[in-house]
Amino acid sequence: MTTIRQIAQQMTTFGKGILAADESIGTMSSRLKNAGVEPTALSRRDYRELLATAPDLAYGVSGIIFCDETLNQTFADGTPFPDACRARGILPGIKVDTGAKPCPGLPGETVTEGLDGLAERLAEYAKTGAAFAKWRAVFTITDNTPSRGSIVTNANALARYAAACQEAGLVPIVEPEVLMAGAHGIGRCTEVTAAVHQSVREQLALLNVDLAGIVLKPNMVTEGDDHPHPATPDEVAAATVDVLRSWPGDLAGVAFLSGGQPPQRATANLAAMQSYDTPWPLTFSFGRALVSPALAAWRGDEERIGDGQAALSAHVAANAAAVRMRGELQSV
Ligand code: 13P
Repeated sequence: MTTIRQIAQQMTTFGKGILAADESIGTMSSRLKNAGVEPTALSRRDYRELLATAPDLAYGVSGIIFCDETLNQTFADGTPFPDACRARGILPGIKVDTGAKPCPGLPGETVTEGLDGLAERLAEYAKTGAAFAKWRAVFTITDNTPSRGSIVTNANALARYAAACQEAGLVPIVEPEVLMAGAHGIGRCTEVTAAVHQSVREQLALLNVDLAGIVLKPNMVTEGDDHPHPATPDEVAAATVDVLRSWPGDLAGVAFLSGGQPPQRATANLAAMQSYDTPWPLTFSFGRALVSPALAAWRGDEERIGDGQAALSAHVAANAAAVRMRGELQSV
């Protein structure tokens, strides 16, 4: 039997990243609408099938994260998504949180929910063929947030989710995301990301989560969207790796979210990270930075499926090339 640790290694294998195609029905529908596509279960299926069947996707992608709707859908030819992905050498994953909801007691802050009935749902997902899961906690930077309460509450939920996944035989992607919204500088993002990670580590340890059987999906450490001076890739890489250094060497791997950065910036930052000698791989688990160009090229037109796939492949190739630089940079 393949162990959790082996799956986590497959997910972060050298030169590959993870494709996040797990937008909720609501988010996916509004993105389709903005691209001029009528949002239906079928158009959402067609779009995810376009992504999963991009030629040679497995060269740069080890796994795809889906939402519940897609995991239970079939390709147009009737093959279930999980089987079709595995046949292409790609591991299927499932987003299992039910979203960030207002957190009682903490006005303006959120807690990610989805723990109720989680063990049962994970058992079903494992039967359906999922190899891994994802849970995203979000933290907003303002002058007085994230509060200690929101950090600890969300870190505890992430740890409960991670422990439940490991018991169900699924690798948890642990995603604490410090959002880019705001005018803060990179120093404040460093401080908040470090505090969040410390709490996540503490909570994972309290529930005996095996770090060699998780993939950490953090934000890159950057300035806020409204800050006037964007940090350079070298500055982002230095700040990000500095925060990550507190994670022990047995962590299976780190796969960054793109967080709304323009695709080229996310790729340049990822490339800059590769010159650091870290005990864990540093790869990508991008959503928007990979799929937005594909959606814009496709726009729901059957005749442009190839264009959509070409756009996805170009961005996957650029990020795979970025992480493959690690071998070259570190062998000199
Ligand atoms: P972005 O790369 O668009 O931030 O999405 C990654 C993701 O999985 C968010 O949960």
